Amino acid sequence: KKKIGVLTSGGDASGMNACVRSVVLYGLSKGCDVYAVYEGYQGLVDGGDFIRKMDWRSVTGYLSIGGTSIGTARCMPFKTRDGRLQAAENLIKNGIDSLIVCGGDGSLTGADLFRSEWDGLVGELLKTGRITSEEATVFKHLTIVGLVGSIDNDMSSTDITIGAVTSLHRICEAVDSVDTTALSHSRAFVIEVMGRHCGWLALMAGIATGADFVFIPEQPPKDEDWETAMCTVARQHRELGKRKTIIIVAEGALDRNLKPIKVDHIKDVLSDRLGLDTRVTILGHTQRGGSPCAFDRILGTVQSVAAVDAVLASTPDKPSPMIGMNNNQVTTKPLMDAVKLTHEVANAIESQNFDKALELRDPQFLD
Ligand code: F6P
Repeated sequence: KKKIGVLTSGGDASGMNACVRSVVLYGLSKGCDVYAVYEGYQGLVDGGDFIRKMDWRSVTGYLSIGGTSIGTARCMPFKTRDGRLQAAENLIKNGIDSLIVCGGDGSLTGADLFRSEWDGLVGELLKTGRITSEEATVFKHLTIVGLVGSIDNDMSSTDITIGAVTSLHRICEAVDSVDTTALSHSRAFVIEVMGRHCGWLALMAGIATGADFVFIPEQPPKDEDWETAMCTVARQHRELGKRKTIIIVAEGALDRNLKPIKVDHIKDVLSDRLGLDTRVTILGHTQRGGSPCAFDRILGTVQSVAAVDAVLASTPDKPSPMIGMNNNQVTTKPLMDAVKLTHEVANAIESQNFDKALELRDPQFLD
């Protein structure tokens, strides 16, 4: 009988609960035992009551709840080998041989490292008498499956991550609210949105709300003098009759010299050069909150069914899979490749190879 652990890790994202619910319900229906690991990798390291067996009723109501009800953490101890050794012991002592991790790029990188070290961890636990030789034989292999939960939509190899669309809805609602006051006062607003090193939220929000100008990390303004370029566009829109000016800035936005583009600087430019009465709004964690939209409920549910199927189909020689979504199809790809590609995007941005970054990140969306 398969014993599956499920955990959520990194920044919470709406739809993570749909994942946990689906892993539990589908896992039980397939005859597996399912355990929730509370508080992300921290719970795996701490063990004890953080690892709880789930039943059908444990996840009642989960579909419509935002965030993650089993908790999450950005866990430092799991980044150390000692932490991962403790985590391995806790898994084995609970009889868990498969782990489904829902998290972002960092969390899935951690999952992949854990699996690649598994052999050595089991060997060390055996040598130090923390597990028996029988346990070492039974738990020779660990199955890991990755589900991508992140509002940033920053994982390569999948078109969309769980939570990104809900977050985009929150941003649109917030910008719509700002719009009415901006229109009333004929003001300019500089709105900062999340996304870490990824501009997807900013770009999509810009299109969905009709913003005047958008700054994203992957495509810094072509002009060295982006201030003039932005003012030219904003002035033209005003001349054409627009009563408001909305500039959306990804929190990781950079100029051509890789210097961060700051919202306060944009505000000063709009005030000084165009004489616009300008305010700054940083949306912050409101973007991560609230009930998941239908899309994220569906995405979390169907991808988690695929994750349980991947656990059941796993063999020691197969690489750990990551469940993604490509061209509207649920896909299963090697986790390691997706993690590698995601890091290549970050490197491309760092080395100012923006075309390559765009190409690697998400060709369909940017076409
Ligand atoms: O990765 C999700 C995210 O919300 C990013 O967009 C943001 O940069 C970061 O997490 C904020 O992290 P924290 O919640 O730890 O402040």
